[in-house]
Amino acid sequence: MIYLKGLKLTNYRCYAEASFEFSSHLNILVGANAAGKTSVAEAVHCLGFLKSHKASDQDLIRHGETFSVVKGSFEKGEEDYEIVFSLSPEGKRIQANKKSFRLLSEYLGFLHVVFFCPDDLEIVKGAPAVRRKFLDSNLCLLSPSYLQNLILYRKVLKQRNEVLKHLGENQKYDHKLLEILTASLIPKAKAISEERARLIAGLNPLVEEKALVISGGKERVSLEYEPNLNGEGDWNLKRDLAAKTTTTGPHRDDFEFFINGFKASAFASQGQQRTAALALKLALADYLGQKTEDIIIILDDVFSELDVDRQNQILKLLKPEYQIFITTTTIKNLSPDITKDSKVLNIKRED
Ligand SMILES: Nc1ncnc2c1ncn2[C@@H]1O[C@H](COP(=O)(O)OP(=O)(O)OP(=O)(O)O)[C@@H](O)[C@H]1O
Ligand SMILES: [Mg+2]
Repeated sequence: MIYLKGLKLTNYRCYAEASFEFSSHLNILVGANAAGKTSVAEAVHCLGFLKSHKASDQDLIRHGETFSVVKGSFEKGEEDYEIVFSLSPEGKRIQANKKSFRLLSEYLGFLHVVFFCPDDLEIVKGAPAVRRKFLDSNLCLLSPSYLQNLILYRKVLKQRNEVLKHLGENQKYDHKLLEILTASLIPKAKAISEERARLIAGLNPLVEEKALVISGGKERVSLEYEPNLNGEGDWNLKRDLAAKTTTTGPHRDDFEFFINGFKASAFASQGQQRTAALALKLALADYLGQKTEDIIIILDDVFSELDVDRQNQILKLLKPEYQIFITTTTIKNLSPDITKDSKVLNIKRED
């Protein structure tokens, strides 16, 4: 397993200079609004993904400063690693035990961070693009061939849409080109769909299990993949010509959450939607856990909108083999039985 022992922040978000020491299992960051809890969680995300879960690199640098450094001391297996992530006018850099990586992508995979934040509610109730992003970002990390197919698919799709948009006088040539581009899209679309279907099928039983625990046995959550393309015949040239764009394909895929058989986006309460989104993220951690031990789970603001029972059920779900960070404004509702083995860090604004 991987374990972040210490974190040092310099000019990161609201922190001029700050250091933290963590426990190898559950860490609860408690503090008032704007105290700097999410900033710490986000810094850990940066050590995994080399970027924030939501903000641009520039936003991470403390106002009025020109550079920012996040330093993490990890224990991974038997070895210690010092990872330094820095942002400056020269760009973004990552070092592991003083060795710089020429390509940032060579570093990715050292640490897998599963990050839950309030915006994840959008995965349940938001637009299909949010769910496609969830699938793509995770599959790109899990499968190099998926990443390759997605890049190529997007490139050819763009070319095909250009041709459809500017269908010129030379109709014969354009139609031939469309045929070639469609033929090139088909195998990539198929590969993307297959990998998405496999991920959703793999996550499904895990999501069900997690949601049942959080809801105290009340909610059976399932995911249903809605591929936009079922076979080669689905490419509809006539419709594409009329719409001047590619109207079918994985770029229009979606998946839906069902709670006890009903569509979650339409029928579920806010707390139920949050439960489903959280179940998905915890399921993802288990799914990744089949491939790597090097996972850290971060649950930012996970308790808001959830009743006391659900809050405590979440803590029961957290497996001791992962290091976990939870941010919250209060721990008064949490069962002392569960919190007694955790490290509670009080986060206060320094200025
Ligand atoms: N680049 C920056 N420079 C300086 N301050 C910043 C920067 N980015 C964010 N802040 C400030 O840092 C503070 C802490 O923000 P953070 O999101 O970490 O708080 P939080 O403890 O998670 O609060 P909440 O409970 O409301 O989620 C906020 O006041 C925010 O405005
Ligand atoms: Mg926060």
